Amino acid sequence: MAHYFEERPETASRPGSVTLVLPDLHLRMETDSGVFSPERVDQGTRILLETVPPPPAEGDLLDLGCGYGPIALTMASRAPAATVWAVDVNRRSVDLCARNAQSAGLDKVRSVHVDEVPPEVRFRAIWSNPAIRIGKAAMHEMLTRWLSRLTPDGVAHLVVQKHLGSDSLQRWLNEQGWPATRAASRSSYRVLRVEARPADRKG
Ligand SMILES: C[S@@+](CC[C@H](N)C(=O)[O-])C[C@H]1O[C@@H](n2cnc3c(N)ncnc32)[C@H](O)[C@@H]1O
Repeated sequence: MAHYFEERPETASRPGSVTLVLPDLHLRMETDSGVFSPERVDQGTRILLETVPPPPAEGDLLDLGCGYGPIALTMASRAPAATVWAVDVNRRSVDLCARNAQSAGLDKVRSVHVDEVPPEVRFRAIWSNPAIRIGKAAMHEMLTRWLSRLTPDGVAHLVVQKHLGSDSLQRWLNEQGWPATRAASRSSYRVLRVEARPADRKG
């Protein structure tokens, strides 16, 4: 079975488009088969974008698991002077996000494969609708990899469905040393606010 988180989806291309309308922006994005939620902007993504505080105006920001880019493009629209890294394992997603950013004139979006972010980059904000369906171990590994790269005052916001384990994820984050609280709760979604781990703040 094909998954949206495959590196190179073999599903035949079926181009489409979606619109994202938020109080502060209106974006039209190209989508395709083999990427996450190609028919409409995911409800969890929308809830994240409607509830998250404004991003820092400058510095490096991250959309972890960008898909075709609704989160990265919103971050870049709200913080036009910041550099927004949009990363994914799925090459089709990375390409779509790059094209969507270009069409929207958001030239500070860097849409790249997860292994292509320079190792020295640290993020003042991470926004993500994380790929829960890759499995708990893989997701924990992914979050450890990227949350460790928050700046000392950096904050991440993650949207997770309650029935996909938002409460246990929050517990796990706290156990690992990342202070995590519930920032918003709407229908079956929770938005978790995660601070940099005190142990990572020294460097
Ligand atoms: C729930 S989707 C969200 C996509 C997009 N941000 C949105 O809101 O429409 C999660 C994304 O994470 C990507 N992903 C899966 N494993 C990943 C990993 N290890 N590192 C980064 N991204 C990953 C998937 O390919 C998918 O595009």
